[in-house]
Parts: sequence; structure tokens; C-alpha cells
Amino acid sequence: MLKLPDLTPLISWYEKNARDLPWRHTRDPYRIWVSEIMLQQTRVEAVLPYYARFLDTLPSISALAAAPEPQLLKLWEGLGYYSRVRNMQKAARTVMEQYGGEFPTTFGDIRALCGIGDYTAGAIASFAFDLPYPAVDGNVLRVTARLLCYENDVLSPAAKKELTAAVAKEAKKHPPATLNQALMELGATVCLPNGAPRCEKCPLFDACAARKNGKETALPIRKKPAARKTEARTVLILRVGDRVALCRRPNEGLLSGLYEPYCLSGHRSPEEVISALADLGISPLRITPLEASKHIFTHLEWHMTGFEILLDEENASRLPQELFLAPREEIDTVYALPSAYRAYRPYM
Ligand code: ADE
Repeated sequence: MLKLPDLTPLISWYEKNARDLPWRHTRDPYRIWVSEIMLQQTRVEAVLPYYARFLDTLPSISALAAAPEPQLLKLWEGLGYYSRVRNMQKAARTVMEQYGGEFPTTFGDIRALCGIGDYTAGAIASFAFDLPYPAVDGNVLRVTARLLCYENDVLSPAAKKELTAAVAKEAKKHPPATLNQALMELGATVCLPNGAPRCEKCPLFDACAARKNGKETALPIRKKPAARKTEARTVLILRVGDRVALCRRPNEGLLSGLYEPYCLSGHRSPEEVISALADLGISPLRITPLEASKHIFTHLEWHMTGFEILLDEENASRLPQELFLAPREEIDTVYALPSAYRAYRPYM
């Protein structure tokens, strides 16, 4: 069993150096849950405005349970991983139906909710209820791998299990909420990734086995996952006055239920675009090339080129029926568009 060094200096360091973050001022499991799901995918500074807006709009579990899906997706627009917010709504409905609207208070019941894994369950159980469970995210894996000079691949399930067990043991010796926050905070502000730790600022400088062995920049070991697939697409901003053609993605799969402009597979030349539109019986008034752009998902890259295409009303009436014309104002307020199309948003 791996044994972490005495973490008392870390606790004192955290009490003096913690960043003032909104979710650190609450014990409300709902607010903690929202913050942790958002923080799984996005940096703290980027989460702040989303967090405030989400809780203003949906201030309670019952409000989340009752929210219409388009509103939910719009609140999440730009955060990515939309299944996370859909799972939150499923879990909120479970809390309403099975727990009378009160968030469950044991680790097992929290962990059983849709979309809540070991990390999130540990974070909620410790931050909201002071239960002695570890919350091991990427930051904590890095911190503990360095403290222990742990030289196996930290992305393997075995490593996660071993390092989590080591933190679990410490969560019985220190206030669990403070311990978990402190490990994350050290990882986010001092024990930085990409071989750039600020060891001179670290409260565990003397105790860190990686530093003692000169391996603090080499650790943690992360075995490279398989290469991502790439997909070439041509994005067509089909415009009629101030309206742009959008379609809704299917209910299953990548970016399900989100809205997007009309796309063709591959990188098409202007002539090929004109010919594809001619096949639909459409002849544009004007076609303007837009910049190329790339978006990286976990397992996939989209390599995009684009065109802005002006249509008159008559040609617009021949657009395929899965497309509809959305006024600019509604694109801003109603339809959730993936950030993958960020480069093309100014034309929409
Ligand atoms: N990253 C994940 N959870 C966090 C938290 N509670 N505070 C700061 N950063 C985090």
C-alpha cells in the first residue's frame, strides 16, 4: 500500500493560500455538484461566468429537473461534453422522485446518480457533508504521483486505484473537504503539469519523493492514448438576409441535439460547393470563402474549411427539409451551437 507523507503542511498552506472561488463558500451539494461537473472539462476562470449564470437560471435541483432541454443546452453552450448536463438533469429527476428533492447524503447514494463517478461523488461527499472520501482528479493524480515518485502510467486504472487508496487513507486523518481542496489547489497553482512545477513554493518541498530523486519534471508518466481520427468538413453558412440555415444534430452520438450550419464532408472547392448546391436545385447569389479552422474533441479532430453563401428567398425555399432559417437573434439566445464552429460564428 502506498503511503503519502504527512500532509499537515499542505493543510496549513491551503488555509493561507486558497483562491477565493464561489463554490468554496457553500455547503449546498447542488451548487458543489454543478461546479465540479463544469470544472471537469474547463479551467476555473472560464467556468466562473457559466457557473453564475447556470445557478441564477436554475437555482435548485427542482429547477434543473424541470428545465426544457434547449434551455439546458444553451446554458452549457461552449462548455462541451453536453451529455454531462443531460446526465445532471437525469440525476436531478432521480433526486426529485426518489429523495423528495433532498440531495442524498451518503457516498453510495451520491455515486449511484447518473453521471456521477468516483471523483465527483468524493468531491460532493467531502465538500458538502465532510465525509472522509478522496476526490482524485488529474491534478491530484499528478500531485500524488510526484509526492510518491510513482513511476507507472497514471492514466491506467491500476494507478488510479492505488493513488486513490493512498488519498483515502489521508482523508481519515485530516478534514476531508480541506484535504481534497488542498490537493487540487496545489496541483492547480504550484505542482503544475507539463514539467513546470514551482517546487520553491511548495509546502511539501522536503517531503516530495520525485523532487528528492530529481524526477519532478519527468513525472507523472502518462502513456499516450491512441491517435485521434481526423475528419475533413466544409461548413456552409447559408444566409438569407439576417437568417442562417441551421439543422439539429441527431439525438444520439457526438454533439447530439445541438444545432449546426449545413456541412459537406471533405474539403470542397468553390466549384464543388456550387455543384453540390446545384444538385439541390439551388443557385447562390454569392459565395465567399471563409478561414480554415480546426476543432479537437477527445477522440476526433474536425478540420474545417468554410464558405458564406448568399441565397435569395426562392432558392432558400429549396433547402433540404432538415434545415430551417434561424434569425441571428435566436441563434444568440435559443439554439445551442457547439464551440467547434467558433470560427464561423461571426458570420452567423
Ligand atoms: N477543479 C476541480 N474541482 C475544483 C475545485 N473545487 N476548486 C478548484 N478547482 C477545481
